[in-house]
Amino acid sequence: MSAPTLYISRLLPDPVMAVARQQFQLLNDPRDAAPSWDALEAGLREAEAAICTLTDRVDASMLAGTTRLKILANYAVGYNNIDVAAATARGIVVTNTPDVLTDSTADLTWALILAVARRVAEGDAYVRSGAWSGWAPTQLLGTDVSGKVLGIVGMGRIGQAVAQRAAGFNMRICYTSRTPQAPGRLPSQWEQRALPDLLKAADFVSLHVPLTPATHHLINARHLALMKPTAFLINTSRGPVVEEAALVDALIQRRLAGAGLDVFEQEPVFHPSLRELRQVVLLPHLGSATLATRVRMGMICLDNIAALFAGQPAPNQINRP
Ligand code: DGY
Repeated sequence: MSAPTLYISRLLPDPVMAVARQQFQLLNDPRDAAPSWDALEAGLREAEAAICTLTDRVDASMLAGTTRLKILANYAVGYNNIDVAAATARGIVVTNTPDVLTDSTADLTWALILAVARRVAEGDAYVRSGAWSGWAPTQLLGTDVSGKVLGIVGMGRIGQAVAQRAAGFNMRICYTSRTPQAPGRLPSQWEQRALPDLLKAADFVSLHVPLTPATHHLINARHLALMKPTAFLINTSRGPVVEEAALVDALIQRRLAGAGLDVFEQEPVFHPSLRELRQVVLLPHLGSATLATRVRMGMICLDNIAALFAGQPAPNQINRP
């Protein structure tokens, strides 16, 4: 039996591409750039299996011409880029890449917490500028992280991994969770709170919810107004969870101390004022960006596709066509 045909929307790390070429009939030569709408549409129409990324918007119109496609493996844990209902209606299995990116995303969240609190990016820019004339008692004074309150919005895998890392900083943990946590599953000292209470209490608020209609602009002007003026907002989840214009207002008016953002409302476009604000650290959606994690994500996509064509359930299937 010939190997299933596979479309990969953009270039993945070499070890993943090597296995993809070995196990499947690769229909295209993926580039290190997002495909055009037409190229993506043609790829999904021609292939039996496809790997797409979080920048590929796969909506009902994109899927309208698919008759052969059996599986769409999303190279991300979040799948807000895919109209899952439309895929399900067409009998297409959709999979994601949970677990393997938990640690790398939690680590990057901590990089942002520490960077905003201790003014790491400002310090780096200062040294590089050549203006630094030596140590000074009042230079680039930051905020302590140790002993503060960390508010985790969304206590899924990544939220928990971020909270676990806070033990080394002797922090108090408050969290919100959509799904009720079974007794004893989380450390008893972690305090579950309603979102408004968490926002009022936390020194650092870190967002770990998926993007859904319910979480779109979850952090809006009203919620930002509840945060302490000394608090920092960290977002490594999805940009539209935060109302970016309201965040910029709060930062400009010093109603919030700063923000660490790995994601933006209209990626790669971001609010122009963010560029001017020294109290923010901006990253280009690097949450899962370690080589090992990105390889594991690709292997999971390939494993899901292989399982389906071997007549087994795809291990990370998120829909039931
Ligand atoms: C995800 O998997 O959802 C991450 O944002 C990818 O970096």
